[in-house]
Amino acid sequence: AWANVPQGPPDPILGVTEKFKADPSPNKINLGVGAYRDGKGNPFVLPSVKKAEKQLVRAGANHEYLPITGLASFNKLAAELAYGKDSAPLKEGRLAITQSISGTGALRIAAAFLGRFYPESKTIYVPTPTWGNHIPLAKDSGLEVKHYKYFDKSTVGLDFEGMKADIEAAPEGSIIMLHACAHNPTGVDPTESQWKELSEIIKQKKHFPFFDMAYQGFASGDIVKDAFAVRYFVEQGHQLLLCQSFAKNLGLYGERVGAVSFVCADKEEKARVDSQLKIIIRPMYSNPPIHGARIVSAILGDEKLYNDWLSEVKKMADRIISMREKLYTNLVKLNTPGEWGHIKSQIGMFSFTGLTPEQVDKLAEKASIYMTRDGRISMAALNKKNIDYFAKAVSQAVKG
Ligand code: LMR
Repeated sequence: AWANVPQGPPDPILGVTEKFKADPSPNKINLGVGAYRDGKGNPFVLPSVKKAEKQLVRAGANHEYLPITGLASFNKLAAELAYGKDSAPLKEGRLAITQSISGTGALRIAAAFLGRFYPESKTIYVPTPTWGNHIPLAKDSGLEVKHYKYFDKSTVGLDFEGMKADIEAAPEGSIIMLHACAHNPTGVDPTESQWKELSEIIKQKKHFPFFDMAYQGFASGDIVKDAFAVRYFVEQGHQLLLCQSFAKNLGLYGERVGAVSFVCADKEEKARVDSQLKIIIRPMYSNPPIHGARIVSAILGDEKLYNDWLSEVKKMADRIISMREKLYTNLVKLNTPGEWGHIKSQIGMFSFTGLTPEQVDKLAEKASIYMTRDGRISMAALNKKNIDYFAKAVSQAVKG
């Protein structure tokens, strides 16, 4: 039956983990997938999450189906976390929101909804580069993918002029995908004043802002600061959509918990959007998993657990920042050719090192160090034990 099925390539990100697992070296390091590791290189279960789980067990939680759009308390708290409790669309009851299978599921529902109902355009503009999965998921949802300039290789920073020019040149009413904070893979974000300019251009061109926020709290360690772009755009009257993930900031990767929300014009419009979200979701996966949403809801809904969680996010973000400092210092000490300041200035879980695909291959072959071929490294995978080994190997790879 499957004689004509062609062999597909491995996933550019998750395929790295497969290669890493197959390597027997005791020195191996996996800097591919963006998953936080503690100072000893182990997966990290947040103490607030452990406490919430204990509460759930004690309460004898059942395993009933959730409604199609998920756990109501989770949706409310997720919206408040992103938009702020005083946000007008929340207060005015005009935010349509549904729980999703983490960030990817949120993006997939959003893209399917736009494909079905957004009247102005079926073209989504994504930054160059963007998260590898954005492109196939948009295409598989029936959208056409185009690009806007984002990263400037020569400055290893934001190509703001190029970004503005491309967004301005897109046909009126285009869908513009924006990484709300901690841009993946580059770790380079617009400044607050640059976001203000972008909001103005997007408004003038009547574009539709599509925000992906997978790292709230991870960029700066401050959940309000990281939500600046989303909240500012809402204040400016954009009817945006927002995808949220709780994989990174609550360490709930495998629980697949996220949300997608649409700022609507009024309550009546919200009701219609809600009804169509259900119609999209029901044949896709019926309704979302319950455990992760209960954990998030228990934490965000309890003042003590919420405050514990805020300090845990900050701790994760700070450990990553300390690894940035250390990697930079090591590379400079080793007289590694090139300028490495971007390791310190980039934000979030990743650093876009500037290593070439050939250097990436060499690092895997010679040193059992694994990363995506675009030279992106998950900073969270570095720790005091492996950072010297890593810096030395990178220095050697760059020296040739
Ligand atoms: C990543 O970019 O590594 C993460 O978002 C995990 C994933 O699913 O790719």
